Amino acid sequence: HSLSPQIHRMFAQQTGRALEYDAILAPLDGFVRSVHAFFESGGGGVNVTLPFKEAAYDWVTGCDEYAGSAGAVNTIVASDGGFRGCNTDGIGLVRDLTINLGCALIDKRVLVLGAGGAVRGILGPLLGASPSSLVIANRTNSRALALIERFEDPRLRASQLEALAQPFDIVINGTSAGLVGALPKVPDAVIAGSFVYDMMYGRNAEPFCRWARERGAARAVDGLGMLVEQAAEAFELFHGVRPDGAAVLRRLREDGS
Ligand code: ATR
Repeated sequence: HSLSPQIHRMFAQQTGRALEYDAILAPLDGFVRSVHAFFESGGGGVNVTLPFKEAAYDWVTGCDEYAGSAGAVNTIVASDGGFRGCNTDGIGLVRDLTINLGCALIDKRVLVLGAGGAVRGILGPLLGASPSSLVIANRTNSRALALIERFEDPRLRASQLEALAQPFDIVINGTSAGLVGALPKVPDAVIAGSFVYDMMYGRNAEPFCRWARERGAARAVDGLGMLVEQAAEAFELFHGVRPDGAAVLRRLREDGS
């Protein structure tokens, strides 16, 4: 059910490129086999989605800074006889926040909810956007603590969800709770006046965004723009030309995505 083929086709139209971009469903134990077969049949580049981003990191022959810090790869490009792994998820999030939504991160107090693979992929670029502090709160505190250790940045700290008492400028929901219509247990005080962003999009982001609006969030938006912007970044890696993410995002919103 991925929107990515549609997004890449829209970028291709925009930039006048001919391309084929299709979804491949790899068996759970068959990532390496599938990716090999794809490149052997002449494929130029791959986007990798859950649950294979870590397997992709292990498989590539080199990687960019963000894939390295996350230990996860979402984009693979054949290069110089090897396979280069990149992670465009966090760049996509930061571009959506700062450019499409006009929400600067510089000197802001940022709260990230969740400490799974999705969150690991965004921390490098988020820290690169110069927030004054970045707090990670997760249902299972030990996973948040493990991320703090991994990234070793003085602005980064972990907090228990229920111990959060002060408002944040920006709250990013990186949990998968929305997939089952659930909400992470966040004290109301954290949300009032905040800019709230859910990394899920569409229906899966609705429970958290609605909950946040009801508690006085200044704004609550879903992560469709992140999906589009991470794809724009990947498209540039594949084709060497930058598509207009904002225009594609507008069209998808008009179509009701
Ligand atoms: P992903 O790769 O999508 O991040 P994951 O590694 O399974 O998937 O992580 C899911 C994240 O959502 C975790 O932070 C998880 O919290 P736990 O580490 O405590 O499991 C969080 N999550 C999922 N369902 C949740 C819920 N109902 N309430 C709060 N957090 C939830």
